[in-house]
Amino acid sequence: MIIDLGGKAALVTGAGSGIGAGCARSLAEAGALVWVNDLDPNKAEAVAAEIGGKALPGDVAEPSDWLQPVIEGGALHALVHNAGYDLITRVGATDRAAIDRLLRVQISGPFEITQRLLGSLRQANGAAVVHIASVQAHASNPDASGYAAAKGGLVSMVRSMAQDLGPDRIRVLTVSPGFIDTYLFDAYLESTEDPDATKAFAYGLHPLGRIGTPKDVGDLVTFLVSPYAEFINAANLVIDGGLTARLY
Ligand SMILES: NC(=O)c1ccc[n+]([C@@H]2O[C@H](COP(=O)([O-])OP(=O)(O)OC[C@H]3O[C@@H](n4cnc5c(N)ncnc54)[C@H](O)[C@@H]3O)[C@@H](O)[C@H]2O)c1
Repeated sequence: MIIDLGGKAALVTGAGSGIGAGCARSLAEAGALVWVNDLDPNKAEAVAAEIGGKALPGDVAEPSDWLQPVIEGGALHALVHNAGYDLITRVGATDRAAIDRLLRVQISGPFEITQRLLGSLRQANGAAVVHIASVQAHASNPDASGYAAAKGGLVSMVRSMAQDLGPDRIRVLTVSPGFIDTYLFDAYLESTEDPDATKAFAYGLHPLGRIGTPKDVGDLVTFLVSPYAEFINAANLVIDGGLTARLY
């Protein structure tokens, strides 16, 4: 089986680094023309130049004029909602505005982007919308209530949205990564008292003895938007090396 997305367009949000860049690289490797969105224009430009895609700087929380080139660009085969960040949310010490912003970036912004791109997705005559959720949607730990709410919300949202959009041949999915080696993971390590010990602990939690890479997630997303996954819909795919199967 060879995935060939030649002639097809994809948009990946937050694609200037980490998992989003992994998705953009993998989709481009399969032949897709990738719109590389990021809040940071320099990062968007760099990844777009590397993969022969098109930079699309913009804030997913405010899907305004920056989305116009995609709306005018014709059929969109794949929409990957990846932009996001972690938030340490100790209950009682978290600013309401921080939670509102997180939910806007992770849920209502992507909702609005999908809404605005429905015409382009319909034109593809077989499209897929993939949200990058997290294992935090399914199991959690202290200080993660805002992040877990955002990621859990995506998994629930997709179950309904896939039913709305199925008749238009638009599949809607979530992918839930475990620990993935990105800036976000490094920032998490740095937020702990002993980053080296936390890193060893995180690796040790995984039956495979390693954490994931952006390429691991990018390759899964590329498969999911490909014709080989045409009957996978309204589903959540966990990609965590076995992390969440572990009881002790
Ligand atoms: N790294 C992990 O362990 C992990 C695990 C599970 C889920 N995730 C999720 O994967 C996604 C990507 O995380 P990552 O680890 O690659 O992070 P990252 O920080 O390496 O990359 C995130 C990118 O998104 C961009 N971004 C942030 N806010 C944005 C906005 N409002 N509009 C447009 N772009 C924006 C950033 O500039 C950055 O380039 C996030 O949704 C995150 O919650 C990450």
